[in-house]
Amino acid sequence: MIRNLNHIGLTVPSLEIGRAFYECFGLQTHASGKDLVFRCEGRDQDQVRLMEGPTKRLAYVSFGTHKGGLQPLRERLEAADVKIADAPFDVSFGGIWFKDPDGDWINVQEAEDAGSTLAPTAEVNSPQRYRRIGTRACDITSSQKKARPRRLGHLIKFSTDVDRAVEFYGKVLGLLVSDKGLDILAFMRSPFGGDHHMIGIAKGPHTGLHHISFEVGDIDEIEMGAQALLAAGYKDGFGLGRHGPGSNYFHYIRDPWNSLVEYFWDIDVIPENADWTPMPNNPEGVHAVLHAVWSESPAPADFIVNFEEPH
Ligand SMILES: [Fe+2]
Repeated sequence: MIRNLNHIGLTVPSLEIGRAFYECFGLQTHASGKDLVFRCEGRDQDQVRLMEGPTKRLAYVSFGTHKGGLQPLRERLEAADVKIADAPFDVSFGGIWFKDPDGDWINVQEAEDAGSTLAPTAEVNSPQRYRRIGTRACDITSSQKKARPRRLGHLIKFSTDVDRAVEFYGKVLGLLVSDKGLDILAFMRSPFGGDHHMIGIAKGPHTGLHHISFEVGDIDEIEMGAQALLAAGYKDGFGLGRHGPGSNYFHYIRDPWNSLVEYFWDIDVIPENADWTPMPNNPEGVHAVLHAVWSESPAPADFIVNFEEPH
């Protein structure tokens, strides 16, 4: 079974245009053969691999499983008639490769999430729970605060058949549904516990990446990161706001090829074996899954558009 999200691979027409965007977003660049990989400051784990290609598209998603987890996964794939393939890309990491029902490449490796060397951010004071006593949350006399992405938390990708994708990621790969709105949008989490979602599936005319999302230290970092990208000329996506599913605060910015990259903070965390109830399958529940709790402005019409070309 899948335990964690390792990184994603994208093909893009220009590595340097991609480098400029992701560095402005707050990631750090490393060379990896012909490709560029991007990591979070203080964390020894690839999060995004950019490979040169004719158009921007989601190339693969790499997940981690526990030690000894590959063999049972092979058996589940075989039982589901899913073919295990040779590595379709020239990459140095191992694991197994196969396609999901939308034809997207999936890699699974025995790999744990790396820890972060960054210090935790300041505690939050809220009524009757005053946790930051005698300490400033923001000291603007020292270095300027900026977005410092801590980890890739999740991705959302389009599917022509959300129910089919949910069945595959659930029954074959072992993920659990945290919330689902009709056959339009589903959020799935690790069976070992963790964020409300590590992958989401959104209904679309064909497969493609909707967004990837990085956790930052607090709501200030969300907006300071977003404002820095806007000042650099990148296009706004949607935000600031707070999601219903997952409860995370968010702001999305469009990458140079019109996919979205999200900063998030304060996501719901669901432990292993939790008695978690998805939002109800009634008009109120479905509305809650498909809409933000609040946002600075309504979601733009193109927020749900799949800008990747069909393949
Ligand atoms: Fe997200």
